[in-house]
Order: sequence, then C-alpha cells, then structure tokens
Amino acid sequence: MAAKWVRMVTAQTPTNIAVIKYWGKRDETLILPINDSISVTLDPHHLCTTTTVAVSPSFDQDRMWLNGKEISLSGGRYQNCLREIRACASDVEDEEKGIKIAKKDWGSLHILIASYNNFPTAAGLASSAAGFACLVFALAKLMNLSEDHGKLSAIARQGSGSACRSLYGGFVKWNMGKNEDGTDSRAIQIVDEKHWDDLVIFIAVVSSRQKETSSTIGMHNSVETSMLLKYRAQEVVPKRILQMEEAIKNRDFPTLAHLTCADSNQFHAVCLDTYPPIFYMNDTSHRIISIVEKWNRTEGTPQVAYTFDAGPNAVLIARNRNAATLLLQRLLFYFPPGDGVDLNSFLIGDKSILEDAG
Ligand code: DP6
Repeated sequence: MAAKWVRMVTAQTPTNIAVIKYWGKRDETLILPINDSISVTLDPHHLCTTTTVAVSPSFDQDRMWLNGKEISLSGGRYQNCLREIRACASDVEDEEKGIKIAKKDWGSLHILIASYNNFPTAAGLASSAAGFACLVFALAKLMNLSEDHGKLSAIARQGSGSACRSLYGGFVKWNMGKNEDGTDSRAIQIVDEKHWDDLVIFIAVVSSRQKETSSTIGMHNSVETSMLLKYRAQEVVPKRILQMEEAIKNRDFPTLAHLTCADSNQFHAVCLDTYPPIFYMNDTSHRIISIVEKWNRTEGTPQVAYTFDAGPNAVLIARNRNAATLLLQRLLFYFPPGDGVDLNSFLIGDKSILEDAG
C-alpha cells in the first residue's frame, strides 16, 4: 500500500484591471484574443485569490472548492489547465516528509484544490483572472515545474483569458500572438510595480451582485454581432497599445488617463452594439464617470482615470495620493454612506487614504 503522505502548496495572486481591454476571441477553446490588451496588477494584499493545492496517493479524484463550496472540475477550462500542467510536471522529492513523486506518476495522482477570493466573485472584478492565475501558479509549485512565467501565463490563459496577465506585477501586456496553437499568446511585463508607485488605484463597489451576462458569453455575442468590435480590434486597439506602452514607460498620466477612459467607454459602446445589447454599467457608474470627467475638466489636466470591466464597479486610478484623497472626498460627498445609493464600500490599495479623506 502507498504511504499516506500529503504534499500541499498555498499561493496568493492579485487580480488585474485592464486599461486597454480584451474583448473577443478568435479561438474559444484555446482562448486566443482578437487584440492585444494591457492591464495593471493590483496590490497582492487587497484584491486577491488564495489557493491551496494538495496531492496525496490517498485522493481518489480531482476536486475543488471555491469560497468553501464544491464546484465541478469537469469544464474544459479546468481540464485544459490541469492537463497542460501535468504534462510539464517534474520529479518531486522531499526526504524529510518521505515524499517521492516521479514525473510519470503525476498523470495518476489526484489533486484537491481550495480557493478563496477576498472580493465578490463574478461581479466584474476579474475574479477569474486572479483565480486561474493562482491555480496555475500553485499547481506549478506543487508539481515542481521548471517552466518560466511565460509558459505559466499561456496555461493560465486557457482557464480565463485575463488570467494570463495576473502572473506578473506592475503593468502587463498580453500579446495576442499569431500561432494557431496559442504558444505565443501570453503576457509580458511592461514595467514592474515600483516603476510608477505614485499611482493610487481603488475600486468603488457599486454592486457586488453576480453579473447577468458573463464575460465569456458577452464577448462571444459581440464577436458574432458587433461591427464596432471589428473596427475596434483592427483599427483602434493596435494604435492605443503603442501609445499606452509609451505613456506607461514615460509615466505620462494625462495620456494614460485619456486612453484608459476612452478604451473603457469604447468597450461599453461595443456592449451596446452587441445583439442582444449588454448593459454592464448602471446609473451610479454613469454618475461616477460624470464626476470624474467634470473634475478633470475643471483641473485642466486629468487627476483621475476611470475604467469599468464587465460590471458596474468603478476602478479609479488617481495620479497621486493627493488626487486620490480629493477624489475620495468628492465621492463620499456625492454618495454618503447609507444614503440609499447602492455604493457599498471603497476598497483601496492604501487604507490610510480613506483616513486622510476624513
Ligand atoms: C472586460 O478573461 O473573464 O475584464 O477569457 O472568457 O474567461 P474569458 O473572459 P475574461 O474577460 C475579461 C474581460 C474584461 C477585459 C479585460 O480584463 O481585459
């Protein structure tokens, strides 16, 4: 009988927020996008997924729990990630615990996975991005993968497109790639998290309800029906990607803000141009846009950028701490706590900003 050991690894991965959006696939199974995208990875301590993976000869099937509830692993996305990871696994030897796993054994050993998000799942806060990135990263450690982050990014992509960007900190670009097998469709780091540490990113949680149209279905419908999406992918995004990379490298906030807001607005215009139309933002989201736009105009130069993913929650990028404090004061003025507006809370990278805002 096999010895009853358990090998366990825990990893934590932050979510990322796209400033140039990924929306639309050219291959739905391999998850290959129709355009490049750029994101910023959030502080790992605030919005993140924590995943523990365990392997033991006494486990008789692969199983997973998400936020304490068992979920099925039978979906193609989980299966693709598990298969790819197992294919790259190496020998593992831990003398102290009496664990010896040969490369060839990984195909027959089963895995248990427990994953927790410290933020609302599927409310447009890119939970799948942190989730799959964390799963792939934890499994790679468990199975002693020698592959670089680029390979892990390509595997995480097959779980959820945006996940491929969460393997890196700072600003990250997902190259759509050209190969049919997707080997070159992976993320690279543009600059690390220290490059532009004046920026303060925070999220106004307008609603933590699960969104009605998942990103996967929404972008499928957009690819099928939106002419604006074709124009966006071919004509608009390639230019924006180059401009955004330059802006990031030069810490050029006005250009970053302009491109980020314009890209979010165009993404939501594509959603309206989709049949049936998709409404991710609500009235509160629109009010937040107006407040930011008005303030930026009054200042003469952008202080804050906004961007919305597939949900109504606002991600706000302030140019520095001072701008973040002023923005928070404004938002608290327009949406005072408990006034009935469905604005639940602010989750911010640096809690002390909230104290500064009084
Ligand atoms: C609006 O990565 O969740 O957040 O690849 O089908 O899992 P799938 O979609 P997902 O889509 C994210 C869309 C977005 C924009 C972005 O993150 O770039």
